[in-house]
Amino acid sequence: QEDIFKNVISHAKEYGYIFPSSEIYDGLSAVYDYAQNGVELKKNIREYWWKSMVQMHENIVGIDASIFMHPTTWKASGHVDAFNDPLIDNKDSKKRYRADVLIEDYCEKLWQKAQKEIEKAKGRFGDAFNEEEFITTNPRVVEYLSKKKTILERMAAGLDSGNLEDVKALIEELGIADPETGSKNWTDVRQFNLMFGTKLGASADTAMDLYLRPETAQGIFVNFLNVQKTGRMKIPFGIAQTGKAFRNEIVARQFIFRMREFEQMEMQFFVKPGEEMQHYDYWKETRLKWHLSLGLGNENYRFHDHEKLAHYANAATDIEFNFPFGFKELEGIHSRTDFDLKAHEQHSGKKLQFFDNETNSSYVPYVVETSVGLDRMFLAVFSKALQEETLEDGSTRTVLKLPSVLAPTKAAVLPLVKKDGLPEVAREIIEELKWDFNVAYDEKDAVGRRYRRQDALGTPFCITVDHQTLEDKTVTIRHRDTMQQDRVAIAELRNIINEEVSM
Ligand code: GAP
Repeated sequence: QEDIFKNVISHAKEYGYIFPSSEIYDGLSAVYDYAQNGVELKKNIREYWWKSMVQMHENIVGIDASIFMHPTTWKASGHVDAFNDPLIDNKDSKKRYRADVLIEDYCEKLWQKAQKEIEKAKGRFGDAFNEEEFITTNPRVVEYLSKKKTILERMAAGLDSGNLEDVKALIEELGIADPETGSKNWTDVRQFNLMFGTKLGASADTAMDLYLRPETAQGIFVNFLNVQKTGRMKIPFGIAQTGKAFRNEIVARQFIFRMREFEQMEMQFFVKPGEEMQHYDYWKETRLKWHLSLGLGNENYRFHDHEKLAHYANAATDIEFNFPFGFKELEGIHSRTDFDLKAHEQHSGKKLQFFDNETNSSYVPYVVETSVGLDRMFLAVFSKALQEETLEDGSTRTVLKLPSVLAPTKAAVLPLVKKDGLPEVAREIIEELKWDFNVAYDEKDAVGRRYRRQDALGTPFCITVDHQTLEDKTVTIRHRDTMQQDRVAIAELRNIINEEVSM
């Protein structure tokens, strides 16, 4: 698993998808740059999302709110007071950790121990194995799982009540050590706000303290009435947005999974109070279908319904994806009640209500939100697409089986040799195709090596121009995934490619 993940990171760099930020200065932790191919893949994911949400839904429109917002926004949203991570330092190593992550990692190990017992029993009992019964009766499994539950409950109670001494006590009682050095010499736990602060204005006395937005959602809430009125929107309707968000993540690890500067694709759906659960169910199902449509394998997705809800939510679930480091959150779907709009009403003194012509009355709508990280989507797609294949002749190839609709370059045009007029014909084909698709030209190295290079880049088609092309205006078109080659007329190329890559 670890090797697969390392491969993903090095492949992303080697093939121009993702570079560490400011690499010549040794990089900046948890900040990354999208390279020449990465920027195309990212744009295509964003577009795929936008089309399915905005273009395909008559009652959803988009906006692009700014990153800076009036500071009261974050007071109203609860981020100033409650958007915190509990931190703890190791006194010997001087390393800083998230206390909740240390405890959750400890619980993950208990879970793995229980899993091991289950697997052993599966092997022993074969078809007769009843997992549900085993989990509730095997003494060792019962002990692991109940210990895990107790620990997590105690941690949640400590964090919720602000009783951070108890969270520290828990770490000490469990004997949790610094994962890097093994030391158990811990400081107290304290809360750390994740928002990045900055200042607006030049002079020290008039400058205003601002935050970089930690989520895009609030730009939608504060514009709710503007959009509703100017767009003559009727409830239920949605507002969609993609854009940057910033969080001062302490445990910044796992490549682009957890970044300090990242992009979200969010949609807030405004509904009539009391009808939120039917919309919540609709969006749960619709969003899962969207993920499955990319063909990365249905077994790689699962829902994780939240038992413990944030104070503003009355239902919440994550769509989790099987990343190279296991199942983790990819998208959140939350029924947020009228918490946000009401809070903004209170803090701004402005009414944020919908006037219902039918009942002749106004109300504050409820909100169902879908929120997916664009960078996490990128990692999901990229890591599942990257495959090592053993071919019939025993050789191996590295192939990036990106969904064709998302691939940065749709076709590479390759003259078989660099003479006899073949490059010129290849250029002509590019001139024709480039109006519809990103196409690349490649004449360097033997054609077999060029195929391999395009496989590794994720290009779905290679079009080879050879001497026969000069006679009959046909080329070979090679399919990345099957490596099958067909002889087709140049005039057919656009349709063939279009059929596979269009959204
Ligand atoms: N408006 C709701 C909201 O922001 P969230 O669960 O905090 O909810 C939504 O974030 C999504 O944003 C997550 O499911 C994840 O895909 C992405 N995300 C959150 N923090 C991230 C980070 N530090 N790096 C990359 N993606 C992140």
